[in-house]
Formats: sequence, C-alpha cells, structure tokens
Amino acid sequence: MCGIVGYIGPKNCVPILIEGLKRLEYRGYDSAGIALIYNDSSEVIKTKGKVDELEKMISNKNLIANLGIGHTRWATHGEPSMINAHPHFNKEKNLFLIHNGIIENYSTLKKILEKEGYKFISETDTEVLVNLIDRYLKRKNNLSTAIRYALNEVEGTYGIAVIYKNEPDKIVVARKGSPLVLGIGEKENFVASDVNALITYTSQVVYLEDDEIAEVYSNRFVAKNISDKEIIKEIHEVDIAIDEISKGGYAHYMLKEIMEQPESIFNSMRGRLLIDEGTAKLGGLHGFEDRIANSERIIISACGTSWHAGLVGEYMLEQYTGIPVEVEYASEFRYRHPIINSNDTLIFISQSGETADTLAALREAKRKGALCLGICNVVGSSIARESDAGVYIHAGPEIGVASTKAFTSQLVVLSLITLLIARKKQLSIIDGKRLINEIQKLPEYAKKILELNKDIGKIADKYFNATNFLYLGRGYNFPVALEGALKLKEISYIHAEGYPAAEMKHGPIALIDDNMPVVFIATKDAVYDKVISNIEEVKARKGKIIAVASEDDNQIGKLVDHVIKIPKTVDMLTPILSVIPLQLIAYHIAVKKGLNVDQPRNLAKSVTVE
Ligand code: F6R
Repeated sequence: MCGIVGYIGPKNCVPILIEGLKRLEYRGYDSAGIALIYNDSSEVIKTKGKVDELEKMISNKNLIANLGIGHTRWATHGEPSMINAHPHFNKEKNLFLIHNGIIENYSTLKKILEKEGYKFISETDTEVLVNLIDRYLKRKNNLSTAIRYALNEVEGTYGIAVIYKNEPDKIVVARKGSPLVLGIGEKENFVASDVNALITYTSQVVYLEDDEIAEVYSNRFVAKNISDKEIIKEIHEVDIAIDEISKGGYAHYMLKEIMEQPESIFNSMRGRLLIDEGTAKLGGLHGFEDRIANSERIIISACGTSWHAGLVGEYMLEQYTGIPVEVEYASEFRYRHPIINSNDTLIFISQSGETADTLAALREAKRKGALCLGICNVVGSSIARESDAGVYIHAGPEIGVASTKAFTSQLVVLSLITLLIARKKQLSIIDGKRLINEIQKLPEYAKKILELNKDIGKIADKYFNATNFLYLGRGYNFPVALEGALKLKEISYIHAEGYPAAEMKHGPIALIDDNMPVVFIATKDAVYDKVISNIEEVKARKGKIIAVASEDDNQIGKLVDHVIKIPKTVDMLTPILSVIPLQLIAYHIAVKKGLNVDQPRNLAKSVTVE
C-alpha cells in the first residue's frame, strides 16, 4: 500500500526521503515521487516503477532542500503512471500533497471544482484533494486552516502530508483511517506512514489519531483536532533495531523471516509461561481474564493469513475452553448485521494492526459494546491502540509481503490465550503443564524443520512449472492447507486451492490427474487415518503427492511421492510446525520462477484501503 515520508530540518532531505521510501518498499507500490521546497523554488520528481528509478532521476539534478515529502503509490484511482504518481500539486505548483487512502466522494468534489475552473491532469482522487485545499487556501490564506476546511468536505480515508511554498517552515499532516506517525529528532522532524521509514534517524515517535491534524516544524510540532482545538500528544519510544529491518545476508526478506521462526516463536512465548501453575501470563489481558473465560461466545475476525490463524484459534479455543467460537472475514463482518452481545468477546488478529477492514470491524464491535481484543505485531498500530486489551505477538518487523513468521507467532499467542482461559475453566494443572512443555519445544522443533530447507527446495524444483496445486488437510491442518495455498498463489502466481481433505470428493477431485501436485498435511493426529484414506483416493487417480508427515510415520512414504517429516507435537500446536514446509515450498517455487518474492505483483503488505 502507499507509503508516506517527509522531512523538515537543517539536513538535505533528498537522501532521507529516498532512504525512507526504500524502507517503505515492502508495503508494495507501483510508482514513486518526491516534492521539495528550497529557497524560493520547488521541484516535483515522479516516476512509474521503483524507488531506484526515482533515485537515478534525482541523482542527475544535484538537488538540496531542507523540506520535502516523498511517496510510494499503490494504484487505486487510475493506472500506475508518472502522472498519477504522488505528490500532486495545484496549478501554481506551489502546494504539494501526498495521500494514502481513498477519497470516496472525489467525483462530486471534482465536479464542483471543475465548475469553478479547476483543471485536472491525473485520474486520481488525490489531485482533487490538493485542489480542494488550494481553493480554501485562496480564501483563508493559511495552510492548516485550508486543510481543515477541505477535510471537512471529504468522505473516505486519508493519511496526508502537505507542503506549501508560501509557508516553508512546516509540513502539515492529517489522518483519518490511514496511519501517520511523526518522528521527533534534534532540531529536525519527520513524518511517515510507518515507523520503519524513520528509525534510522529517531526512535521518538508520536502516533496521530483519526481526525487529528499536526503542523510539523523543524523544532516543534502542534497537534490539533478537526475542530482546531490543540491536543497534547504523548511521545513514544520505539524499539526497532536497523538490522531487524534489513535482509541480514539472506537473498530475500521472506526467506530471512521464515528462517527467523525459531527465534520469533520463542519471542512470542518469552516470559509468558507460568510453568508451576500450568498456565500463561499475558500482561495485555490482565484484568480481563475472567470476562473472557465467562464469554458466551468468541468471535475472531481478520483478513488473509491472519484469518487463517483465526481458524486455527477456533479449533484451539473450542477444544480446550468449551466456548463456542466463530471466525469471520473482517470485510464481511463490518458490513453485515452481526449479532454481537455484550457478553461476547471479539478477537481481532492483524500483523500490521492497520488493515482497513479489520480496523472497521473492530470499531463496529466496540460500538456494540463487546469486549474487543487485538492480537497485533506492530506496536502502537491502530488496532493495538483501539482494542480494549490485547497481546502483541513480538515476531519482529515482517517486511516480506507474504506473511510467514507473523502467522506462526499469531498461533503461539492464540495457544497461550487458549491455555490461560482453559485453565480458568476445565483444564487441569497437569494438562496445562503438559501443554507448556510442548509449547516450549516449538522453537527447537521449528529449527529442525528449517534444516530441511535444501530438501524442500529440491521438491519445489520438480513442480515449479505446475499451473495448479491442491492443498489438503483436516482438523487443525485444514487452515494450514488454506495458508499453504495462499502462500503459493501470492508469490508464485500459480493457482492453488486449499480444502478440507474430505471435501475433495465433493468437487476438486475432478481436477486430479497425473499433472496435479497435491500437498497433504498428514501429521499423526486425531484425523490421521481419515487423511490417509484421502491420500489413497488421490493416488488412485495418479495425482502427484507431497506429504507433510510426522517424523515417526514409517508408512506414509510408501503411499506418496515426497515426504517432509516434521517433529510430533500435540494436535493444537501442530499448525505452528506443519506450515513451515509449505512456506518453504512457496518460496522456492517463486525463486525458481524468477519472481519478486518480497514484493509480489498487485499485493500490499498493509492493506489500508478497503
Ligand atoms: C498473506 C498476507 C495477507 C495478510 C492480510 C491481513 O501472506 O500477508 O493475507 O495476512 O492482508 O494483514 P494483517 O495481518 O496485517 O491484518
């Protein structure tokens, strides 16, 4: 999704903007641009394509400026092109705007402006907004006031940064629905849509909330609400090291993040297990434990991979706590008429904590008075801040667009919540301790699976030319099948379907022939025998079978073409391990196809538009 960065201070902002934009590349984008104001002059440079391209264009110009904004665009209105790229500007080219989000009533506003003589050169909603601000600037003669008036007329979502040649001492930013953060430096300040763009320069940040506008000067900032009332903002310290957001010697972020899982899984449980009491301690849920345990129902809502984590959570919570659980796509939940009672608990899962649909679902549930918990990775993200309580997964920054380590950490946290609530209900201390014992072994088990990386790469080599894949699993491994298929399709562009293994005979079995690779997740769990029957059905139709199996399974090798053996753990924790080979299969196939693994086409890391 789009990225915003801005700088004001004594340094030349050009390299700062370029570095910031590079740090935002992982979010997914199709064009990039910067606007600079210096002395009495200004400059806008934009291009379709990558930030490297932009950097080349800038390097010929020897530009030096102390005030500038930069943007990576992920097309929503109008194709990726130089003209549609941000920053957008007014006719006089003295007012520059970058924008994340969508102005929903842009065509109405455009017609009004056109009647007043405004002309448009791009197809974007953003160009409408900059001209709307221009219209008020001509009447009010003050940038912040003009922005406030313009935003009052806007329907939709925005994170914006604006600079104006006649007020070169500030950047004005505003937020509604799209994240924005200020970076506080020594006699210099930064703005960004994501702290990753700032952390080379400062660890002090201020999170803007919806309907807030801030004037950012080089030595101070002033934040106001939409009614122009000043508000005091807290400065937060962010704890992200630069090497956490670099590739650390790996060819791709995705591989680095897959390989980091022994550590990220450990970080998700660190300090959270009360071994003697056979339970978990989750500071973020403190005071809410009884209310959760007494819930009549738990609803988990999320999107994509986080939704798959929610499905595993459903199996975990229902098995161990006896509380009925429903899992909802946030995009559906937010617009239907969900029946939410005050004694329901809702859990919103989001790596980024900024996914527009999940955030809207959270707000809808809060409005209805239910207890809303967040499970997020990004500290200080909107979902984390707006939830009543919650748990960070502590997986560390996830840069690769395809989610990997966040998924396994989400599952670790869901297992800890399950343990905590189950111990409040029927789970005995002995069983609690048994679970803890298995949870503690997960990092070591993950390490063992990752040692199979080369072997898994060889299996992937055999199938990278396939055009379709089926992923099948049952019970706890059904969501893993969905996740394996999603990983493959998003980075290798191979069509893949995940199904509950037994559903295969209700349709997908028609697809099976000797060209069809079928990945079975067939660990020795409660439904193992049933899955073996499904494997037989595929074998009878000559499908090519890759099985993820338990290490003590000496039989399955006779039935399938390839086996990937993983350590045996309790059923509830199996998905945390069984997904790892599937992440590696997807990774190796995409690499073999020569694709951009970390920034797959059309995808964005943080989906901040609905
Ligand atoms: C898939 C993937 C997406 C995200 C989804 C939700 O690899 O990354 O499906 O899981 O966009 O994102 P978050 O978890 O940030 O809410």
